[in-house]
Amino acid sequence: MASPVKTYRGNRASDVDAMFNEIARSLDARSEDESNESTNRGLLEDKQVVEPLSELIGIDPSVYRQINAALKAGSRHIMFYGPPGTGKTTIAQRVAGEISEQWKLITGSSDFTSQDVLGGYIPLADGKLKFFPGVLLENFDRPLIFDELNRCDIDKVIGPLFSVLSGQSTVLPYLSDPNDPESSRVEIRPKGTSNPPASYSPSSKWMIIATINSIDKASLYQMSYALTRRFAWIYVAEPSDADAFLREYLSRDLASEIPATSRSPLAEVWSAINDVRPIGAAPIIDVIRYVLGEVDGFDFFAPTDEEGLSMPLLDALSVYVFPMLDGILRDESDSLRDKIADALKLSQDARMLLSSRLIQLSI
Ligand SMILES: Nc1ncnc2c1ncn2[C@@H]1O[C@H](COP(=O)(O)OP(=O)(O)O)[C@@H](O)[C@H]1O
Ligand SMILES: [Mg+2]
Repeated sequence: MASPVKTYRGNRASDVDAMFNEIARSLDARSEDESNESTNRGLLEDKQVVEPLSELIGIDPSVYRQINAALKAGSRHIMFYGPPGTGKTTIAQRVAGEISEQWKLITGSSDFTSQDVLGGYIPLADGKLKFFPGVLLENFDRPLIFDELNRCDIDKVIGPLFSVLSGQSTVLPYLSDPNDPESSRVEIRPKGTSNPPASYSPSSKWMIIATINSIDKASLYQMSYALTRRFAWIYVAEPSDADAFLREYLSRDLASEIPATSRSPLAEVWSAINDVRPIGAAPIIDVIRYVLGEVDGFDFFAPTDEEGLSMPLLDALSVYVFPMLDGILRDESDSLRDKIADALKLSQDARMLLSSRLIQLSI
């Protein structure tokens, strides 16, 4: 007899949660080793949840729903991915803070070596060698945020942890005492107590929270499937309503008076850019600060039909936003030029300037 097919309604929050739980359960290949009490119970205490961050505006509620469902379902590791500047690092820090007051953040870099990550021998003053643990082993007792994981060779960085992530022990190619050839080799164990330098084992507070900028699409595929499924992947999008974002940001953070009806030219520009390549709120906040530094009390909701009003905006976009558009297609740059020129009511001269800037970025 065929098993009954379960249907979830995407427009019902409780169904979406249930579906996410189901997916998390089926993806979570928990080994016997991992099915100890603390893993099953999830990382949060009963009733504890990660609340929406009040400082972030326009984050889709699904982000917090998925974080809490994943933690409840016992997912050990979370990957936040999405356009740059959407609040991924900020959210990662909050999640880590909920798990433990002590957490560590490291930022990915292309020159991370296995020594930095896992550990290796370091010569002491007396000429002897000693094994020093790398950043991953050092932080087995707390949540570790791996920020901008896409900037390093992902398999090189997390790959060595694969066996731990899948609940198996692994032996490193290092002697626990490099001066004694008979000493045991350094071992990573999925559970138990750490006994450095002979063995390292993650505590119940250990989790990896990683962030990836999805502008760099290639990095998403750089991770093997086996590694990918050890993480709960949570997408953090740009605010879906640019105008509403500006309204809230400007009225709340800057206490500006906002007219109820008119649409912000900057919001129109941001929406047009998002159609080509989504970008988060962070660079837009930079634009706002830049413009306010140039023109005291600048009205972001008034038409910018004078050069004195459109130029500061265009300059700020040029400084903080256009660099993120590097590599757009020529067609995209042409249509973006038209949309930005219309939104900002640019003069012919300013339009030419914008055009050449965007063409430089395009391929
Ligand atoms: N939706 C948002 N609302 C308000 N501020 C935001 C928002 N998204 C990002 N920011 C601000 O932008 C800055 C950078 O955010 P960050 O968390 O580093 O983004 P990401 O890691 O996605 O690049 C932070 O100061 C953050 O408060
Ligand atoms: Mg970040």
